[in-house]
Amino acid sequence: MSERKSNIGSYEQRLPNFDWSLAEQELGYKKGDKINIGWYLSDRNCQKGLGMKLALIHEDHLGNVRRYTFNDMRVMTNAIALYLQKLGVQPGERVCIFMDRAPELYFTFQGILKMGAVAQPLFSAFGDESLFTRLDNAKTTAIFTQKKHVAKVRKILGTLPALRHIIIVDADESTTLKDRELAYNMEKQPRVEQFDAYPSTAETPSVLHYTSGTTGQPKGAQHVHYSIISQYLTTKWVLDLQPDDIYWCNADPGWVTGTSYGIIGPWVAGITQVVLDAGFSAERWYQFIEKHKITVWYSAPTAIRLLMREGTDIVRKYNLKSLRHLASVGEPLNAEAVIWSKEAFGLFFHDSYWQTETGSIVITNYPGMTIKPGSMGKPFPGITATVLDTKTFEPIQKSGTVGLIALKPGWPSMFRTYWNNQAVYDSKFKNGWYLCGDRASIDPDGYFWFVGRDDDVINTGGHLVGPFEIESALLEHPAVAESAAVGKPDPVNMEVVKAFVALKPGFEPSDDLDLEIMNFIRKKLSPLAMPQEIEFVKSLPKTRSGKIMRRMLRAKEWGEEIGDTSTLEND
Ligand code: WT7
Repeated sequence: MSERKSNIGSYEQRLPNFDWSLAEQELGYKKGDKINIGWYLSDRNCQKGLGMKLALIHEDHLGNVRRYTFNDMRVMTNAIALYLQKLGVQPGERVCIFMDRAPELYFTFQGILKMGAVAQPLFSAFGDESLFTRLDNAKTTAIFTQKKHVAKVRKILGTLPALRHIIIVDADESTTLKDRELAYNMEKQPRVEQFDAYPSTAETPSVLHYTSGTTGQPKGAQHVHYSIISQYLTTKWVLDLQPDDIYWCNADPGWVTGTSYGIIGPWVAGITQVVLDAGFSAERWYQFIEKHKITVWYSAPTAIRLLMREGTDIVRKYNLKSLRHLASVGEPLNAEAVIWSKEAFGLFFHDSYWQTETGSIVITNYPGMTIKPGSMGKPFPGITATVLDTKTFEPIQKSGTVGLIALKPGWPSMFRTYWNNQAVYDSKFKNGWYLCGDRASIDPDGYFWFVGRDDDVINTGGHLVGPFEIESALLEHPAVAESAAVGKPDPVNMEVVKAFVALKPGFEPSDDLDLEIMNFIRKKLSPLAMPQEIEFVKSLPKTRSGKIMRRMLRAKEWGEEIGDTSTLEND
């Protein structure tokens, strides 16, 4: 398979005169045309003669497999779009998807887009408070969910007046539907052969993905239908998907990787993808690759490190020869993991860098390009990326100097704003550059080397968690007077959450209290946000103006220089 030609061909030759219109032409789009992502993923593929090709091979945790062709996907997403229309959901309204990786998740996403509403995917492991924050902020009007998650919706319903419909996709005879609840069985619905997709144009809102920042509650990054242009071309050139590929993206669509490259990218390209709705297990994953003869795999560093921990002997038990291209995203991919993957699979994992806000891959290693293990690679053609001086916000000329990763705005999938928060959006720009919030250096060959985040956001296993969200939730616990949440080093997840807690008078530190607080956060927010360690302290270090100095606490965890503490009140 190695003599196969990559889609990108030569990276260097793609750079001069690159224009996104290349992707527009391949998708048959001209400026001003209608462009509806939902239509592109199924209807267009059927028109091109791919109706009978498999779009989705889905395996649940019990090993049951369901298969859907592009035509199945077309008629089933039509049915969902029609159903929403009949419910009175209006174009532009936010419809949340809050479920495990069932086929319904993948299809409701498209049905929502087809009828012109905005898809708001949320990670199903979110607790009621994480869910509330995001549904309240988006004034979401409908939510698709499953029986196992509906209790969390019921708990917060009373304070969500905008939420009119709770649609349960796996309700059965034994389910008693409560206030505002409906049952929608996707498999049993009549197929809808014809549905006129909403005539969205380039700037029509499509997907709203919530992401955490340093301050305040998570913000909704607003994407538009035109994003498909960069999602398509990056899928082709970076993931190198070709017509006979069987592609596996193991990201959950509650996060942007799972939508940009777990729904939109592969399906606009007419590729067959596999989904495994089950937790992590090295054996199960290798079995899955062998069984479905997966050829291209998009994964994440934490998963790779978990596999690495299990060793290469178990890899040898399976026939993984079908694999031909591997890529990774979400957090720093350490050189050891890249080298290990070559040893284990005979292939390098190709690191890729991007964010919820960028909507598609912006810096990466391309098929055929020399890999420098530990480097994120080079900017995608059409993306102008640099590192800026932290004080002047001017591009740094000297290679090897660490600065802020910055991008020239204007690529198709860039987010258009933060939902109802233009001020924070505006604050992300300096001197005409969009600041990603990360630090890196560029070597003399133009490769980017990630250094770290430039803010207090915690990246645990590739998932961003906002310290403010954790601290706010901690303060709701009756024993907590003050708190600070920071990332502490972890060999697999890179970082995990550690909380510093000062107790209210009358409360004493104890193991029980420790566990109780951890569980309190797990239930309210998510297992990701749950502190793995709680350190009880008398008080927290603050600036003279009373701001808790998270950075100082974090530096201690990482054994770094604490830096300037002159403004500290109680150092
Ligand atoms: C943040 C974005 C878009 C993918 C899923 C995460 C970190 C992302 C890398 C990488 C080092 C990375 C950055 C970035 N990150 N990819 N290859 N190497 N760090 O999307 O939740 O918006 O997180 O993840 O800090 O800003 P996200």
